[in-house]
Amino acid sequence: MRRRNSDFRRPVRRRFSNVFWLTLCGLAVLLLIILLSRETRDSSSRLVYTKRPYRHDRIADGLNITEEMLRPESMTRQINDQISLAKAILVIAKESNNLQFAWELSAQIRNSQMLLSNAASRRSPLTNRESESAIRDMALLLYQAQQLHYDSATMFMRLKAKIQSLEEQANSFSEKSSKYGQIAAEEVPKSLYCLGVRLTAEWFRSSNLQKKLKEEKQAAAKLVDTGLYHFCVFSDNILATSVVVNSTAMNSKNPDMVVFHLVTDEVNYAAMKAWFTMNSFRGVTVVVQKIEEFSWLNASYVPVLKQLQDSDTQNYYFSGNHDNSRTPIKFRNPKYLSMLNHLRFYIPEVFPALKKVVFLDDDVVVQKDLSALFTTDLNGNVNGAVETCMETFHRYHKYLNYSHPLIRQHFDPDACGWAFGMNVFDLVEWRKRNVTGIYHYWQEKNVDRTLWKLGTLPPGLLTFYGLTEALSPSWHILGFGYTNVDSKLIEKGAVLHFNGNSKPWLKIGIEKYKPLWDKYVDYSHPLLQQCNFH
Ligand SMILES: *[C@@H]1O[C@H](CO)[C@@H](O)[C@H](O)[C@H]1NC(C)=O
Ligand SMILES: *[C@@H]1O[C@H](CO)[C@@H](O)[C@H](O)[C@H]1NC(C)=O
Ligand SMILES: *[C@@H]1O[C@H](CO)[C@@H](O)[C@H](O)[C@H]1NC(C)=O
Ligand SMILES: *[C@@H]1O[C@H](CO)[C@@H](O)[C@H](O)[C@H]1NC(C)=O
Ligand SMILES: *[C@@H]1O[C@H](CO)[C@@H](O)[C@H](O)[C@H]1NC(C)=O
Repeated sequence: MRRRNSDFRRPVRRRFSNVFWLTLCGLAVLLLIILLSRETRDSSSRLVYTKRPYRHDRIADGLNITEEMLRPESMTRQINDQISLAKAILVIAKESNNLQFAWELSAQIRNSQMLLSNAASRRSPLTNRESESAIRDMALLLYQAQQLHYDSATMFMRLKAKIQSLEEQANSFSEKSSKYGQIAAEEVPKSLYCLGVRLTAEWFRSSNLQKKLKEEKQAAAKLVDTGLYHFCVFSDNILATSVVVNSTAMNSKNPDMVVFHLVTDEVNYAAMKAWFTMNSFRGVTVVVQKIEEFSWLNASYVPVLKQLQDSDTQNYYFSGNHDNSRTPIKFRNPKYLSMLNHLRFYIPEVFPALKKVVFLDDDVVVQKDLSALFTTDLNGNVNGAVETCMETFHRYHKYLNYSHPLIRQHFDPDACGWAFGMNVFDLVEWRKRNVTGIYHYWQEKNVDRTLWKLGTLPPGLLTFYGLTEALSPSWHILGFGYTNVDSKLIEKGAVLHFNGNSKPWLKIGIEKYKPLWDKYVDYSHPLLQQCNFH
C-alpha cells in the first residue's frame, strides 16, 4: 500500500503510525470522486478541477481550461477522467498482486499524461485524432479491470472490510489487554450460576409446579397451532433468554399470538421453567424443553455427536479450556453447549407439528413487532436470513476452505454470506428438501475438519446454499458484541445481535450498547438482587 504515495505526486508527511490510515482515507476520497464522476460528467470535471488546480492553471496560460474541460466533446477531460480511474485501479491491482496488469496500467497512465502535457505546452486543445489511440488503449485496460472486478464498488467493499478487520483486531486486542476470558468474565457468570441454583431450589420447593402444569394444559393447543407466531431459542443462559422473550413480548402487537419454544439442557431445565413460570411476559406463551428429551438426538443419527465421541475431536474442540480448573463449577457443559448450538439443524424434528418458525439466538434483543416475518414470502426457500456481504466482505470464501475440491466444485466463492441469529425457517420446505440430510452429508465430510474448523455458520452456509432468501437488512443488525454500529441502523433495526465476545451480560460488554439489553432486565427482581446482578 505504501508504494501508492509515489503514484500521487502529493507531499505526504510520513508519520509511520498513521501512514496506513492516511492511505485508506485518501483512497476512500478518491473512490468517492470516481463514483461521482461516473454519475455526472459535469460535476466530475468540476471535481477534478478543484482537486488539482495548479496543473490546470499552468495549462491555462493561453487556453481557458475550464471551458475546455466543460466542453461535452473535450478529449482533455476524457483522458483526465480515465487517468484518475486508472490510478485508483492501479492501487487495487497492486494490492491484488497483479503486477503485470499494474505495469501495463502505469505505462498507459504515463502515455496519457504525456499527451496532456504536450497539448498543454503547445496551448491548444487535444484533437480527436491524436487522442483516439490513447483513449482506446486506456479504455481497453479499464475494461479488463472491470473483468477482474477491480471496479470501485468492489474496492470500496474491500476497504470497508479491511477497516472493519482492523477494528476487530484493535477491539480484540483491547479485550485481551483488559484480561478478556474467563477471568474478567467470571463475576457475572457467578451471578448467573447463583440465579440458576436459586431458581432450581424454588422450582422444587414451591407449588408453582402445579400451577405450571395447569397452564401447560391450556397452552398445549397453542404449541401446535400453526396460525400463531412460533419462536425458538436454544440456550443455557436464563437471563439472556429472558431478555429475548421479554423484548419480543414488549414490542409485539399481539403478544397472545406469540409462542416461545425454549430448549435448554438438563442442568438449567428446572431453573428455566421456574423463571418463565414466576414471570409473565404480556401473555406470551412459553414452553421449556430439555435437549435430553430428544432420544433421536443420538450418536447413531447425529454426526456431530458421533464425532464428539472421538477423543481426537474432543481434544480439538475443548483444548481451549485450559482454565477449567480455575472455573469453580462447570456450569457450562461444553458438550451440551455445542449440541444446543447444533440443534438449529434439527428444527423440523424438534417441532414436528410446526410449519414456520423464527429462530433467535440468545444474544439478541428484539425492538420491533416481528409478526411480518411469518408472512414474508421466502420464494420456496427454506431459510430467510439477512445477508452480510454488503457490510463487509463476508462471502463464502471467507468461511470455507477453497483449496478443498469438494468446496470448489459445489460453491461459488463469491456467494453472499448470511447470518444466523434471526432466521425464518420454512419447515415444510425443509422436510421436503431433506435439508437435515444435506447437513449430515457435509458434517460427515468434515470429519477431519478440512472443510471448515469450528462453529455452525460454515455448515449452515453449505446446508442452506441455494435455499436462502435474503431478508431486508433492518430485520437483523449485527456486530453489537465487537464493533461500532451505525446509530441510524440501531434505531431502525428489528433485532439487534450481540454477536462477538462482548456479551451484554459479561463485565466486558461494550458499555455503549449495554443499555439496549439492560432495558429488558428487571434488576429489581429479588432473585437478581440476591445474586448480585446490577
Ligand atoms: C475561463 O472560463 C470560465 C467560464 O467560462 C470563466 O469563469 C473564467 O473566468 C475563465 N478564465 C480565464 C482565465 O479566462
Ligand atoms: C437414535 O435415533 C434414531 C433416529 O433418530 C432412532 O431410530 C434410534 O432409536 C435412536 N437410538 C436410541 C438409542 O435412542
Ligand atoms: C435425506 O438425506 C439422507 C442423507 O443424505 C439420506 O440418507 C436420506 O435417505 C434422505 N431422506 C429422504 C427422505 O430423502
Ligand atoms: C483445505 O483442504 C485441503 C485439501 O483437502 C487440505 O489439504 C488442507 O489441509 C485444508 N486446509 C485446512 C486449513 O484445513
Ligand atoms: C421486561 O422489560 C420491561 C421493560 O421493557 C421491564 O419493565 C420488565 O421488568 C421486564 N420483565 C422481566 C421479567 O424482566
